[in-house]
Amino acid sequence: MATSAASPSAPPSPVPASATAPSTTLGPAPAANPAPAPACTVVIFGATGDLARRKLFPALYGLEREGLLAPATTVVAIGRREKTQEEFQAELAESIRRHSRFAPDMETGWTDFSRRFSYFRLEMHDTAGYRRLADLLDREEAARGLPRRRVYYLSVMPDLFEPITAHLKAAGMVGPENDSRSACYRVVIEKPFGYDLTSAEELNRQIGKVFREEQIYRIDHYLGKEMTQNISVLRFANVLFEPVWNNRYIENVQITSSETVGVEERGEYYDKTGALRDMVQNHMLQLLSLVAMEPPTRPDSESIRDAKVNVLRSLKRWERPADVATNVVRGQYGPGRLGGKEVAGYRSEPEVRPDSTTETFVAMRVFVETPRWRGVPFYIRTGKRLPAKATEIHVQFRHLPNPLYPSANGPLVPNRVVFRIQPLEGVFLQVNAKRPGAHTQITPVALDFCQNCAAPFNSPEAYERLLFDVMRGDPTLFTRWDEVRLAWEFIDPIVEAWQRTRPHFPNYAAGSWGPAAAGTLLTRRGHHWWSLQDKEG
Ligand code: BG6
Repeated sequence: MATSAASPSAPPSPVPASATAPSTTLGPAPAANPAPAPACTVVIFGATGDLARRKLFPALYGLEREGLLAPATTVVAIGRREKTQEEFQAELAESIRRHSRFAPDMETGWTDFSRRFSYFRLEMHDTAGYRRLADLLDREEAARGLPRRRVYYLSVMPDLFEPITAHLKAAGMVGPENDSRSACYRVVIEKPFGYDLTSAEELNRQIGKVFREEQIYRIDHYLGKEMTQNISVLRFANVLFEPVWNNRYIENVQITSSETVGVEERGEYYDKTGALRDMVQNHMLQLLSLVAMEPPTRPDSESIRDAKVNVLRSLKRWERPADVATNVVRGQYGPGRLGGKEVAGYRSEPEVRPDSTTETFVAMRVFVETPRWRGVPFYIRTGKRLPAKATEIHVQFRHLPNPLYPSANGPLVPNRVVFRIQPLEGVFLQVNAKRPGAHTQITPVALDFCQNCAAPFNSPEAYERLLFDVMRGDPTLFTRWDEVRLAWEFIDPIVEAWQRTRPHFPNYAAGSWGPAAAGTLLTRRGHHWWSLQDKEG
């Protein structure tokens, strides 16, 4: 893996230990598997769509292979298209072959897995169809001697959330009101949860007519990523971090999620959404909350989400257009070169308006106004068609006031903790050490823990963990309504300020690190983006 310089002014990055001596990098021993989740019926709306094919079916297969699906768990795959069970089974097998982290074992395990699935054709507004579905589920559960324990997964366009939940209720599929058993009906909602605060509130009100908050599982798949879950463990299970995790010792925090892909087949959705709503409102603010939150009072779902909510509540809002102009940078890619190939500009992507002003890149400076973080800038950066696919969090420490060992060429490189969320998963600590030899020369080195660099540690996909948690009723890794609301309250004024001026787009070439202003956002304060360690593309 090459080391990339995101900014020309960046000092050279140390070579991570894993890059030179992979065999010495140890991963944690994978834990003994927990017990399977209680048996339930998973009903997937939108089962012929992209998400089901690429993520949900492979995740269920991953759970099967890990022994985490109860034998009686079944899946009803719902789609609008006419399809025989055989056709559906062929698509299921193809999805596993193409997207699963496990090579399908067609000999032994496959039959056990595939017979869990049945395909059910339903027009999403067809009242009679829901009654037939209700009968089918009742019959099957009775035949298996199961209580009504159901997970309704809405992998559909957001405008269908409300009609589907209303139909579920009308067909008696969510249990009578005040029925204590109704806690066994859960609904999973994919993002985007609304388009702005008003639409999110309306959506929440509609879904709230059918499901209580504790039955609603709002997906943010970044929370299911292995290393995202590790942020709070590393922070709160090691004496090394917590005492220095504050504005006395930390200079700035940088959270980057960069992608090499463009908008692929999602031009229509993306052009109405943009990077701020697509990535910052959810994934980026969730990562920030985990880095900045106070220790939760208990390790349970409500305490952890309370701690995250407090961060979102403490974000300094950029409300005046002048504040937005100073602290937030937007960009859109033009044509360029990436991975050795010419790629088109955003405005030439399918289903994108040729004069679109939708942003494909955002960088911003954010402050968390708590005693712990007052004055520490958190820099967020995300975009499409950047040189690398990587998500990393760099926590940069302050310089020592009187270093005993000044570096021969300028100040010492500051200490840094780097959480690598993907594609490499791990954490490294950049420290200063003596270069071998007769002179005392100081050089930055990395104490590197990488859990998937050397050993082929096959991390579970985010959706595996998330589906498993829904089935066993653990909402910790899902966003609570107050988190969603506060995130929109932070985002909306930025959108409003942007709407007042027309941006000069495109303003970065595909394959570059975004508009120049994203660099000056930091350099004018004496900071720079740290290079991402692991590049592809
Ligand atoms: C999704 C966004 O939520 O996250 C996509 O809608 C983006 O636009 C994706 O590509 C990135 O996820 P990951 O897991 O590949 O980093």
